[in-house]
Amino acid sequence: MATMRVMVIHGPNLNLLGTREPEIYGSKTLAEIDAMIQDEALALGMEVRCAQSNSEGEIVNLIHEAANWAHALIINPAGYTHTSIAIYDAIRAVRMPAVEVHLSNIGARAEEFRHRSVILPACVGVIAGFQAGSYLLALRALKYLRDEGHI
Ligand code: DQA
Repeated sequence: MATMRVMVIHGPNLNLLGTREPEIYGSKTLAEIDAMIQDEALALGMEVRCAQSNSEGEIVNLIHEAANWAHALIINPAGYTHTSIAIYDAIRAVRMPAVEVHLSNIGARAEEFRHRSVILPACVGVIAGFQAGSYLLALRALKYLRDEGHI
């Protein structure tokens, strides 16, 4: 089987990880998280590219471009999780399996608006609440689905 290629997309404000509300999101920087993702991908025999954008249209473009290279997507849409029909449409349009990821457990957050994801119906599933570990679990989830022949 060909090496599984995965595009990881981080949404708005995640470039500030490390200093942004560390009690909620953890104290690792995005560069540290990306390095952990690369290490895990290597261990799992997968190839990964990571990108971050603060703009909705650019995230849509990243999803379109990923379709030329990747077998699957991991996306933390951040604040756009709760609002973006454009990102939902983009994931559906490229017909790629996607895992939605959150550092925090959005279902347990104080703000009710965080409890609902408009992106999730376009995804295979969601992993939330394990801080940076959520991304590593998402890689394992995709490998499982691939090994089982589901994607
Ligand atoms: C987040 C949760 C979102 O509600 C929030 O807007 C973020 C980060 C998370 O990873 O926990 O920016 O996606």
